[in-house]
Amino acid sequence: MKVNQLIKLLPINFFFITRFLVLVIFCLLLTCLFIIQSSSAEPVKITLMMQALEATQWEPFVKEFNDQHSDIELEVIEGPNATNQVEDLYTSSFLLGNSPYDLVFMDIVWVSKFAAAGWLRSLSDRLSKVDLAAFLEGDINGGMYQGELYRIPIRSDGGILYYRSDLLEKNGYQPPNTFTELINISHILQEKKLAEWGYLWTGKQYEGLSAMFMEVLSGYGAFWINPYTLEVGLDSTTAIEAVNFLRSTLDKKISPMGVTTYAEEEVRRLFQTGNAVFMRNWPYAFGLLSDHSSPIKGKFKIKPMVHANNYFSGSCLGGWGLGITKNSQHPDAAWEVIKFFSSEEVQRRFVLATGYVPSRRSLFNDSDILTKFSYYPQLLNVIENSILRPPIPQYAQASDILQRYLSAAITNQLRPEVAMEKAAAETRYLLGKQKSNND
Ligand code: GLC
Repeated sequence: MKVNQLIKLLPINFFFITRFLVLVIFCLLLTCLFIIQSSSAEPVKITLMMQALEATQWEPFVKEFNDQHSDIELEVIEGPNATNQVEDLYTSSFLLGNSPYDLVFMDIVWVSKFAAAGWLRSLSDRLSKVDLAAFLEGDINGGMYQGELYRIPIRSDGGILYYRSDLLEKNGYQPPNTFTELINISHILQEKKLAEWGYLWTGKQYEGLSAMFMEVLSGYGAFWINPYTLEVGLDSTTAIEAVNFLRSTLDKKISPMGVTTYAEEEVRRLFQTGNAVFMRNWPYAFGLLSDHSSPIKGKFKIKPMVHANNYFSGSCLGGWGLGITKNSQHPDAAWEVIKFFSSEEVQRRFVLATGYVPSRRSLFNDSDILTKFSYYPQLLNVIENSILRPPIPQYAQASDILQRYLSAAITNQLRPEVAMEKAAAETRYLLGKQKSNND
């Protein structure tokens, strides 16, 4: 090419080169802008509410999650300690619309209602069959509604009987298996002035009353509601016997009248003073009763609940898990939270710190957990044989009916037969209405 031809082409090339350079600089600027923007982007906020006591216990883990996830900020709002009050708060937030919650920290008994109302996202596609098999079967089943999974269990729970092993051993008694043995041992130790009270149970009008009563019902071979047929068993002879048992503990002064206003913590605190022989509670109490400041540290043991002759003991399956709300704008970030809290490692450390019950089977045989809580294999046995409160969408209303009439019966406002007849009739009406709506 001749020089003059080259000179002729130069301005065009120059034009292209300049355009190319401008384009490169522009792209570089855009990239820088994107990097600056994404590094200073606000993390996605994920909100949930849980009972105040538990929120404090989860605090270090929430901090750990936030430290590990610069793109997510988990905020835990403290709610009341009673499960039905927390449920009411979640329910009103969904009914009013614009609920601030991405996650629901959910009692096992809320699942059907929340799922049926359309407030939760299905989590069925998030875990494989193998992942699910690592959890306790009852906890997974309790998270299902109409074949879909809505709740991943974070911790399990089951009602157990605490007894003062020191008092029983010194006085030559085996731990009781039946209601009658429990009453007799209580009575004798009270007579000997070794304990002021025989048996402590949660008799306040709230969800804990229904959970505890399920166990007494089952111990007498009675039932509350059959979830498949919606048959109601509250007015059967055996169900009335179950109410009579609770009433007799008060009439015989085996239990203080105060239990009719006590929830878990009131019962646990009284047992911890050393003034009672037996207590029905959840496993969370074990850790607190074993605290170095506890007067009964090392002086108590646990066993499955008592039952009537020829029947079996029933432990009510409780437990808590996480579900993602329908209205959450960030379901994937919410899922990260679930993965973290349900992971084996986090559960392991949470159990070691608090004595709560894991929802993963492997942890019941974890060597560190066994060194600290040697009773875990026994607990696994109790929980694997526990009974679920009726998993029906109207559970909250059914439980409310039972609580009202049972409370009236144990506080002597209604005779047990009358109370249970009324409870059964109202429950049938509730379920009957639902049945005809579905027809
Ligand atoms: C415990 C159980 C829960 C139950 C509640 C009743 O928290 O885990 O399932 O509903 O006690 O008070």
